[in-house]
Amino acid sequence: MSIPDAMPAAVLTRHGGPEALELRSVPVPRPAAGEVLVRVTAAAMNNTDLWTRRGAYGLPGDPDALAGWRGPIAFPRIQGGDIAGEIAAVGDGVDPARVGRRVLVDPAFYDGEGPDAGPVGLLGSEADGGFARYVVCADARAHDVGASPLTDEELACLPVAHGTAAGMLARGRIAAGETVLVTGASGGVGLGAVQLAAARGARVVALTAPGKEEALREAGAAEVVLRGAEPGALADAVAHAAGGPLDAVVDVVGGPLLPALLDRIRDGGRWVIAGAIGGHAVDLDLRRLYLHNVALVGSSMHTPAHFAELVADALAGRIRPRIAGRYALTDIHAGQDEFARSAYVGKIVVIP
Ligand SMILES: NC(=O)c1ccc[n+]([C@@H]2O[C@H](COP(=O)([O-])OP(=O)(O)OC[C@H]3O[C@@H](n4cnc5c(N)ncnc54)[C@H](OP(=O)(O)O)[C@@H]3O)[C@@H](O)[C@H]2O)c1
Repeated sequence: MSIPDAMPAAVLTRHGGPEALELRSVPVPRPAAGEVLVRVTAAAMNNTDLWTRRGAYGLPGDPDALAGWRGPIAFPRIQGGDIAGEIAAVGDGVDPARVGRRVLVDPAFYDGEGPDAGPVGLLGSEADGGFARYVVCADARAHDVGASPLTDEELACLPVAHGTAAGMLARGRIAAGETVLVTGASGGVGLGAVQLAAARGARVVALTAPGKEEALREAGAAEVVLRGAEPGALADAVAHAAGGPLDAVVDVVGGPLLPALLDRIRDGGRWVIAGAIGGHAVDLDLRRLYLHNVALVGSSMHTPAHFAELVADALAGRIRPRIAGRYALTDIHAGQDEFARSAYVGKIVVIP
């Protein structure tokens, strides 16, 4: 396979608006020892691409600081954490027979080697990602998905969103037969959570905006509740749809919904939170937590074990991501505009 010297890439040059993301020609990276070079056949967008561009994560002790999710970003940085592709070259110590394999890239960097290691970095944030024609990653993070019935575009929808959803379900101990509320249900993580929770036998109540009900039922939601009402009325609507106390909430929205809904969870229930799209500062009555043994669980991305389970789901075709739009890499700004409007259900794919 001949590999060019240069490639087009979407490069984040600084924190800022869309103009901070520039289309440039950059050198094709070379795999170091233990790494592989992946030719990207499909990538996908995530909320983290926009938050990282804006520097919207804040820092411990300085919530308004411009920062990526793990702290300062080293610019220039090629964004994009969702990558499907084909191994084009290998570094020293990697089996040459890996060249040509179809792979799904686990974009996480971990704080250890074991299956339960925690994520401490992400391709597209702490290292260059997949909004480019090629990307390098550790050989161990390029999972062979040659046998999956999913297309490369569908596979590219999985790592960040479904990976985060898989981490939430595992950390929230979501079990078959439980009734689970999923918020932001039409977005990347939310729809992943709806699909995975339903595939694991949970009864899903999806919270979403009007117009998306049918797509969410198709994804596996048993009940759909429309957001927009004030928090108290929304809590009533959710409890009505659930038909009783919730076993768990899988939440990427947070904000005023959290205190309003907390006492609609059963004793011993769980609230797993991985995003704060509806507001990150909340006023919480802690008595509603400790008097009912409710666990509030923070969840960031996935572990190697969660990702391995996701790869197994992809190989078995147990989940089918929903593609809401496709953009060429050269149209990435238009794609991000559509992403930011949240008027679709599923994932937006980027074709390099
Ligand atoms: N912790 C982690 O590891 C991790 C990883 C990935 C993402 N995240 C976070 O999770 C959140 C969702 O990410 P995503 O990639 O799924 O984003 P996304 O695709 O943009 O989906 C977000 C969804 O939230 C809903 N929403 C949007 N604005 C809202 C508002 N003001 N109030 C209530 N709901 C609103 C919309 O769904 P409906 O119309 O269906 O309500 C939207 O589709 C973000 O905060 C992101 O930063 C965290």
